[in-house]
Amino acid sequence: MTVLEQPIQVPISKLTHPMFDAHGINVQMLHLERTDPLLNGNKPFKLFPNIELARSLGYQTMLSFGGAWSNHIHALAEAGRRFGFSTIGVIRGDDGERPTQTLNFARSCGMTLLPVSRLDYRRRHTAEFIENLKLRFGDFYLIPEGGANQTGVTGCKMLASVIQRSLNGSAIDEIVLACGTGTTLAGLTVGLSEINWVNAPHVRGIAVLKGAGFLRGEIKGWLDLISPTDLADCWTLETEYHCGGYARFPASLMRFISEFEARNPIVVDPVYTAKALLAVYQRVEQGLHQQGASILLIHTGGLQGRQQA
Ligand SMILES: Cc1ncc(COP(=O)(O)O)c(C=O)c1O
Repeated sequence: MTVLEQPIQVPISKLTHPMFDAHGINVQMLHLERTDPLLNGNKPFKLFPNIELARSLGYQTMLSFGGAWSNHIHALAEAGRRFGFSTIGVIRGDDGERPTQTLNFARSCGMTLLPVSRLDYRRRHTAEFIENLKLRFGDFYLIPEGGANQTGVTGCKMLASVIQRSLNGSAIDEIVLACGTGTTLAGLTVGLSEINWVNAPHVRGIAVLKGAGFLRGEIKGWLDLISPTDLADCWTLETEYHCGGYARFPASLMRFISEFEARNPIVVDPVYTAKALLAVYQRVEQGLHQQGASILLIHTGGLQGRQQA
């Protein structure tokens, strides 16, 4: 049986740009996308504790939800293959009919795919919908879309010590990361409050969805649930850097990615990390950071989505 291990130390690289020098800002990137060829980014932090719980409860099957390019579905399929679980992916809308690279990969891992209409997909939280799935597939361990459950949040606490170890003593003021559900940000924020870190960095989430103000309430809900301390001052969610909305890639974003990748030996996914990166560039340019500030941007993975269908 394979041991589910989180990375101990993760490579960090310095991002160089004349604009960073001009403003006196140090920007570094934590390369979670390099921790494993397939199960990387923030996925192991959310998924591994869920897999451990599923295993301890005696489940042999895990079921979750996502779109046809979902990083979460991709990671769950690989995790199922690697750790000996059957997996079922309920795929949103007509997306599920398209043979994307993500779904082909999931199938090749042995995942059973169930495409459902957008209307049905919206009912995925209802008891009736879940009951019908159980009638069809038998019992399963359910992981919400994006790995957004309390076990996933708790798993992301470990990111804090991974970052601290990876920095090897160098100080940072702020950690920036892309937010979809806010699970990773919530776990990281709690994790930072629980480890011994004098002047722990502030956590700044960049929402990749349009109109993501509601996420603040969800993140606060997770924090209230798993932390006895009031962490309101420890994190911020920025909602103005979505570039038009989830999985919207305006030409300006694509140009930014090309320029960034030409300058740095780093590949970024356009859905998450590229938007967080663009936010960092724009905020530095707007003078929103004090001279001498040090920022650590987390590359949260998602590179499988760059492959074309
Ligand atoms: C590559 C990548 N980065 C960032 C995120 C956002 O993480 P969260 O949903 O925990 O906010 C996701 C979604 O899980 C993702 O797939």
